[in-house]
Amino acid sequence: MGKVYVFDHPLIQHKLSYIRDKSTGTKEFRELVDEVSMLMAYEITREMPLKEIEIETPVMTCKTSVIAGKKVGLVPILRAGLGMVDGMVKLIPAAKVGHVGLYRDPETLEPIEYYVKLPSDINERELIVIDPMLATGGSAVAAVTALKNRGAKNMKLMCLIAAPEGIEKFHQVHPDIDIYVAAVDEKLDEHGYIVPGLGDAGDRLYGTK
Ligand code: PRP
Ligand code: URA
Repeated sequence: MGKVYVFDHPLIQHKLSYIRDKSTGTKEFRELVDEVSMLMAYEITREMPLKEIEIETPVMTCKTSVIAGKKVGLVPILRAGLGMVDGMVKLIPAAKVGHVGLYRDPETLEPIEYYVKLPSDINERELIVIDPMLATGGSAVAAVTALKNRGAKNMKLMCLIAAPEGIEKFHQVHPDIDIYVAAVDEKLDEHGYIVPGLGDAGDRLYGTK
């Protein structure tokens, strides 16, 4: 069964509090999501394997470490996942970025796919699927299914906030994929919003509604 990792770094928790605050406006919300995404990228890459290389410093030749292993791919779930890309790319600049476009039908809460564009070598990459919110889990389940159907083998799911209901549903369908979050909240409300959550992530990022 997949695991759930909560990033409890004080800076992540501090910034998440202001992201949640309804008095935080669009500009600051966007900046905070960018900053938290960068910090989460730092945490999620903690286990990346290293390999030894030899370099010459101005003083002498020495053995030192650089990142080895598979190449990284980021896959934001449109639209709100886009708000997390730039922060992550600051730390993983060579990452390729694929896009999966989904929105939740407001009546049924079912995800509707409208766009998929991926790097050609996704089967060789370590993919990080990113979306601020894991609510019912429908969008993340559909995005990961779409990626698996196109050959993706190695994935992690990274979200700012998850509801227990979304975690359970995601791991029922994709028990092979670990979830990385800044917080696991209490529950969903009757409209499928995370409680206490942060509201509608896409609307708060882009100033829509
Ligand atoms: C939000 C969010 C997730 C989804 C989570 O997107 O960014 O993708 O809801 O809900 P779920 O777990 O119940 O599927 P939304 O559908 O509002 O689209 P948007 O990103 O375009 O605003
Ligand atoms: N999507 C959001 O943007 N927020 C929620 O609380 C649930 C789904």
